[in-house]
Amino acid sequence: MKRRDFINWVGLGLIASSLPVAIAACSSQTTSTSGDWQTVGTSAELDKTGQLLAKNSPAGPVLVVGTSKSENLTAVNPTCTHAGCTVGWEPSTKTFLCPCHGSKYGIDGKVQKGPAKEALKTYAAKIEGTSVVVKPT
Ligand code: FES
Repeated sequence: MKRRDFINWVGLGLIASSLPVAIAACSSQTTSTSGDWQTVGTSAELDKTGQLLAKNSPAGPVLVVGTSKSENLTAVNPTCTHAGCTVGWEPSTKTFLCPCHGSKYGIDGKVQKGPAKEALKTYAAKIEGTSVVVKPT
């Protein structure tokens, strides 16, 4: 066998042997897409105060606003886009307020007052059984 044939033969073997690994890696990425609903708490927790903060949920930090009786739940990533403080929900003004530098966001997560310039990330949210579930929008 010539040297060039040997190198081609070994190269083909490496590709063939790594193909199942590459396919497995691709398919595992497909199954872990971010389109899945994630549980962030219970409807009982949400109903206590009308808001539920899950800082370490599987979907990341989530603040859900509403109750299990609400037609639409609101859910945002409460990490302020200015410098990363955690915003709080103000029911009287229906806004998210940042305690650090005063940024204000609407219920849709959009900036109403700076210094933040970018909107909060939002999630779709719903009640499923006794769980509050969210998924990125
Ligand atoms: S960190 Fe929220 S306004 Fe600065």
